[in-house]
Parts: sequence; C-alpha cells; structure tokens
Amino acid sequence: MAAPNPFTEQLIAWQKVAGRHDLPWQNTRDPYRIWLSEIMLQQTQVSTVMPYYLRFLGSFPDVQALAAAPIETVIEHWAGLGYYARARNLHRCAQQVVAAHGGSFPDSPEQLAELPGIGRSTAAAIAAFSFGRRAAILDGNVKRVLCRQFGIDGFPGATAVDRQLWTLAGSLLPDGDIEVYTQGLMDLGATLCTRSKPRCLECPVASGCVARRDGRQAELPTAKPRAKVPERTATFVLLSDGQRLLLERRPPSGLWGGLLVPPEGKPDQVAARLGLQLGEQSPLPALKHAFTHFKLTLEPVLCRIEPLAHLGEAGLEWIDLDKAADAGVPTPIRKLIRQVASARG
Ligand code: ADE
Repeated sequence: MAAPNPFTEQLIAWQKVAGRHDLPWQNTRDPYRIWLSEIMLQQTQVSTVMPYYLRFLGSFPDVQALAAAPIETVIEHWAGLGYYARARNLHRCAQQVVAAHGGSFPDSPEQLAELPGIGRSTAAAIAAFSFGRRAAILDGNVKRVLCRQFGIDGFPGATAVDRQLWTLAGSLLPDGDIEVYTQGLMDLGATLCTRSKPRCLECPVASGCVARRDGRQAELPTAKPRAKVPERTATFVLLSDGQRLLLERRPPSGLWGGLLVPPEGKPDQVAARLGLQLGEQSPLPALKHAFTHFKLTLEPVLCRIEPLAHLGEAGLEWIDLDKAADAGVPTPIRKLIRQVASARG
C-alpha cells in the first residue's frame, strides 16, 4: 500500500473537524438523494440549491416518483435553477434507472457516467458518497485546488492539462475515508481555496502548496488563453489653420460612433473627399491604442490648410486647438490633439 500523500491526510483530518457535515444531502447513502444534489450543484451554489432540493424531494421522494412525473412538473420544480437541459437530463436519467436498472442506481462510476447528465466527476462523487467507491472527482473547484497545491501550469481546459489533472486526482485518493476526502476537496474549494482572495492562513494544506510558496495564488489556475486580437493601422489628418482644428463627426454606429475625430484616411484621400487644398504636411509619431477586440495604430499627419470660407461638408466643425482635446473626442485622439497643441507652444 503506497504511503498517502500529505495532502490527502491533511485534507481528511481537516474535513472531519472543520468541513461541512449538515448539508441536506449528507448523512445519507441514498443514491437518489445524492445524485439529485450533485446534479443541482453542478452549476449552482449550495445556498441556492438548498430550498429547491428540499421541495424537489417533497414532490418526488424517490427515483420511481420522479420517473413517473410529467416533464412539465419537473421543469416547474426546477424553474429558477437555470440550465434547463439539466432538468431534462435528470428526468431522462430517472426513467433510465427505472427502465434499465430496476430502479436502483448502478454502483460503479463507469456505469453511472453512462446515464444522462452524469459526467465523469459527478459519477465519481455519486459512487463515493453512495457506495464508498474509490473514484476521483475533478470539477472546477477541485481543478483550482490541485493546480495551486501542485503548481500545475497551463489552462485546465486544454487536453494535456486535463489528462494530467485526472491522473493526479486519481493518485491522491486515500485507501479509506473516500467520502470524507471527497467532501473535503469540495469544502476546501468552496470555502477556503476560492478563486479570488483564498484564505491561505486557514488552509489545512497550505504547508505543501506551491502557489502559496511562490505567491502565485492569483495566477493559478492558468486562465483560458485569449484569442490573439487583430491589429489595424489608420491614418488621421489633423487639419489646422494654426488656431483651430477641423474635426469631423463620425456616423452614429461603428467605432467612435457620434464622436468628433480628425478625418480618417491618407491626406490626399481626405483632401479629395472634403474638397480641400492642403498646405505643408508633417507626420507625427504613431500612437497605439488597445480596444477590447483589436489594437489600433494611429498614424497622424499634421496638415496646414487655409481658413475655409464655408464648411460645405456636413459634420465638419472647426474647434479651437486649445479646446479640441476636451470637445468629447476619443481618448487616443485627445492624446494626439494634446501633442499638436503643445508643439504649437
Ligand atoms: N458541490 C458539489 N457537490 C457538493 C457536495 N456534495 N457538497 C457541497 N457542495 C457540493
């Protein structure tokens, strides 16, 4: 028999004295009650599940009662818990347990995982709590605990990391006390090893925790890699008569919709579009700006133009150079205008 990992021993000892022991689905070996709680708890927290769970059991006291109920009644009892596919799978699962297993849940994690709505981790939890079967759970909370404790880098949703975590989770299982250990993992993830502000001072496995040792609690587990954002370049022509800047109001929708911005485009294009004669042109330093979905490099060109007799083009406005930065322009444009205004002295 392999020596248990200190993590496993510390977790079991802690669960016995500091874990949760009075949740409505504890202190029973009834697979129906345990299964029902695990399905409800899949994407919903304990405090929300509690009243639903008790009302559900009041109406459907066993798997036969649930299997025989119309789906509409089941959905009504589920209303408010969200993710209604869970309710439909729950009903189908009850019917399958009655039809294919004589009304008794199978006791192996493998067979449980073949039933509707029961994934590998939920199957292991049901098998451990109902039948004392030695099987590893690995839900989101447990992944966080293991990634921190053992310093596992990489997004847990990636296939290689997922495989590594399942192997690790299996290697940590105790020879006895599987129920206590499994509940301890859940309790630790839900109460101390939380996503933000983990309470490491109270943690029973802090002494062996790699994330705590290296101060990496906020970095682990590794976040989902962000898709690389596209990069775009755009030229803006800052047209000035020396005192004022010619700004153009953008169309209401799209980037910077409705805001005042220097005309976008190469100087010659802008001159042709607006019917202007350009004087001296001088490129200004480029400026980068990060939007949520892309990065923009702004390439500004300062152009001298003669004062216009009239603004033929709708949407054009002369704004004093001193006031333009505060005229409701987007942030990177404000930076450009400040450069021009301060260069003028
Ligand atoms: N979340 C999932 N299963 C749970 C359980 N048995 N107790 C508390 N929270 C849980």
